[in-house]
Amino acid sequence: MFAMIIEETGGPEVFKYAELPTPTPGPGEVLLQVAYAGVNPADWKNREGHLAQYRPYTFPYIIGFDAAGIVAAVGEGVTEFQPGERVFTPTNHGQGGQGSYAEFAIASADRVARIPDGLSFAQAAALPVASLTAWQGLFDRGGLEAGQLAMIHGGSGGLGSFAVQFARWAGARVAATCSTPNVDYLKSLGVERVIDYRTENIADAVAAWAPEGLDYLMDAVGVSSLPNGLDLVKPGGTLVSIPTLVDDGDIPSQVAAGAVKGVKRVFSTMDDVGCGPTLQKIGELLDSGDILLPPLREFPLLEVAEAHRIIQGGHNRGKTVLRVEEF
Ligand SMILES: NC(=O)c1ccc[n+]([C@@H]2O[C@H](COP(=O)([O-])OP(=O)(O)OC[C@H]3O[C@@H](n4cnc5c(N)ncnc54)[C@H](OP(=O)(O)O)[C@@H]3O)[C@@H](O)[C@H]2O)c1
Repeated sequence: MFAMIIEETGGPEVFKYAELPTPTPGPGEVLLQVAYAGVNPADWKNREGHLAQYRPYTFPYIIGFDAAGIVAAVGEGVTEFQPGERVFTPTNHGQGGQGSYAEFAIASADRVARIPDGLSFAQAAALPVASLTAWQGLFDRGGLEAGQLAMIHGGSGGLGSFAVQFARWAGARVAATCSTPNVDYLKSLGVERVIDYRTENIADAVAAWAPEGLDYLMDAVGVSSLPNGLDLVKPGGTLVSIPTLVDDGDIPSQVAAGAVKGVKRVFSTMDDVGCGPTLQKIGELLDSGDILLPPLREFPLLEVAEAHRIIQGGHNRGKTVLRVEEF
């Protein structure tokens, strides 16, 4: 198969086009022929070597968590998927497998979902990591409920675009931060109070919108961008940080500070094991129009370095996908 590989960690220039053996699905696994791979900020951090704290790098190494394509083959014991079906998945990259910037990728069957008829491969590839992380941070770990006052710090990125919409869909009242060029975008997603962090003081804006404090706050940017996050949440509320690998501060101290204030302080990393059913539900919410797909930026796989430069800039709007193969 062809793939974009790295043979060393480093800048966007380390990507190389290469041919590698096509993988074979093991028991419980699905082999996807990849049409589109999704790009996440974790990918440039992975390329730079930040994932070494979780696992060793073995070269040649294929980056990329998200994939959408067709089932090419299934391993022993897989009965729920058949070759030819359109599917999407965060793959097994998070568990140490090769990534999705390739013609073929492997995923455990329990983290694969069928692409709804109304979604294209490109749209489906944009979903897994960003939407699952948002969902888990809001509901599974954050316990967000209808009627609560919720704020998403970093509402216009891949994760934030889903988080603001899921929170609204669940019946919460939603505020979100972004920079000036994204204010109208977040209003179009139905955010009640858009806070332009370039022109407004976030604490003052929150105090006016939620005088008793927020019930729920998600930090999807990094702790140094919102050092007073705990002060914005009322006692009994919840502050969820999405770990960034590069700006997470001293996590145990922050959890302890939350406990002193009576705020549930959570660092919520995506758990993709068994995520197939959640991904299926999210796909259906997009298919029905309850949740809108964020704007998509598309690159051919060979231009992955340019896609990485843009996402590494930190001011991405919506999602970026790589076209691997047309079918
Ligand atoms: N641990 C996990 O499991 C996990 C999973 C998914 C994502 N993440 C992490 O979560 C973060 C967000 O992911 P993403 O996919 O949404 O990234 P993204 O698509 O690159 O979006 C980043 C967003 O951050 C916003 N931003 C930058 N500086 C800001 C500031 N000072 N205040 C408010 N917003 C600011 C940008 O909006 P403006 O251009 O408007 O400033 C941009 O929309 C990344 O660090 C990613 O690695 C972690």
